[in-house]
Amino acid sequence: MTSREVLARELSRARDRTLRIVEFDDAELRQQYDPLMSPLVWDLAHIGWQEELWLLRGNDPHRPGMLAPDVERCYDAFANPRAGRVDLPLLPPTDARSYCATVRDKVFESLDALPEDGDEFRFGLVVSHENQHNETMLQALNLRSGPALLGAGTALPAGRQDVAGTSVLVPGGEFVLGVDAVTEPHSLDNERNAHVVDVPSFRIGTVPVTNREWTHFVADGGYRDQHWWSDRGWEHRERAGLEAPQFWGADGTRTRFGHVEQLPGDEPVQHVTFFEAQAYAAWAGARLPTEEEWEKACAWDPVAGRRRRFPWGATEPTAALANLGGEALRPAPVGAYPAGASAYGVEQMLGDVWEWTTSDIRPWPGFTPMLYEQYTQPFFGGDYKVLRGGSWAVGADILRPSFRNWDHPIRRQIFSGVRLAWDV
Ligand SMILES: [Fe+2]
Repeated sequence: MTSREVLARELSRARDRTLRIVEFDDAELRQQYDPLMSPLVWDLAHIGWQEELWLLRGNDPHRPGMLAPDVERCYDAFANPRAGRVDLPLLPPTDARSYCATVRDKVFESLDALPEDGDEFRFGLVVSHENQHNETMLQALNLRSGPALLGAGTALPAGRQDVAGTSVLVPGGEFVLGVDAVTEPHSLDNERNAHVVDVPSFRIGTVPVTNREWTHFVADGGYRDQHWWSDRGWEHRERAGLEAPQFWGADGTRTRFGHVEQLPGDEPVQHVTFFEAQAYAAWAGARLPTEEEWEKACAWDPVAGRRRRFPWGATEPTAALANLGGEALRPAPVGAYPAGASAYGVEQMLGDVWEWTTSDIRPWPGFTPMLYEQYTQPFFGGDYKVLRGGSWAVGADILRPSFRNWDHPIRRQIFSGVRLAWDV
């Protein structure tokens, strides 16, 4: 398959997914489920608008587009904070759908007409952007109250009993952090450039922390004992009244996309803030990994002395290797993907839950903003912690060991979990 055919397939896969997420009536799409999230119809038209701007208008907002200027202004994410998007004069859902379809038709024409040495990165960026919004839209749907709109999700492989709480040693030494445009042409600005980093020996959890392990922290009074918390973390815990991960009930249940179910003990814990993750780690006699440690454990092959494209090797992700793509609507039980282990034997690094690290988002050496200039640069130096590895909701087409995400340390509507690390 040519790279162009791959892009066409990825664009179509992303769009199929978007359309499945907005398969609801117009009134539903216009609702704002939570001030943290946009109404789904905003995401829908924003996906189309960004695609039009990047691929059909040469990233020049002054070049006339398909939408009237006062309408297209609504879809600039930086000009319109999420909380207020519901009040904007948004396109009605029917118009948003047809706008996206029209843009996509023209984009396929432009992909067909792209010269041999044409800029394919822009198309990859659009694939990434649409997939990332798909995950955001699932976060929004998960915050919706009332009866479930979505099913319970597709089946997942069984886990293994003996793996929770275990760890592996990652011996100290240099490795190559980050990627470049040659090895990963669709990598985003913050993943570049590849550079050598020396990481001292550490241990890292074989799998993420489970719900069962987290219940012990709760039962041990972990949320009541300031000792385990950072000053900022404790202040937030008190102000927000945190007593357990978001969506946990008091009766051993959890709510997931409107489904109330028994808390699955062997599933990675989800919906915790950085501050909770940090407190849990302290209680467990551990710490959170840095993102350098995380990426080494995920991608480095110490025998071959080079990076692997994926933790398990070169093959593209499949349902036997990782829980990605959003159809499961939940993480897989720990131990479900032994074949997806990294060279060090670390499992479930891609998919399932985003894993909090202790690192702030900062540029790698040689950082150059990409076409989407506001993607990473405005966040450097801000109050954000890096999360790694993607969640079950991330599209398999866009995830790599070098992929970096970041959020405020108080956020937990995201599909965030915890992997522990230890000094040795
Ligand atoms: Fe966006």
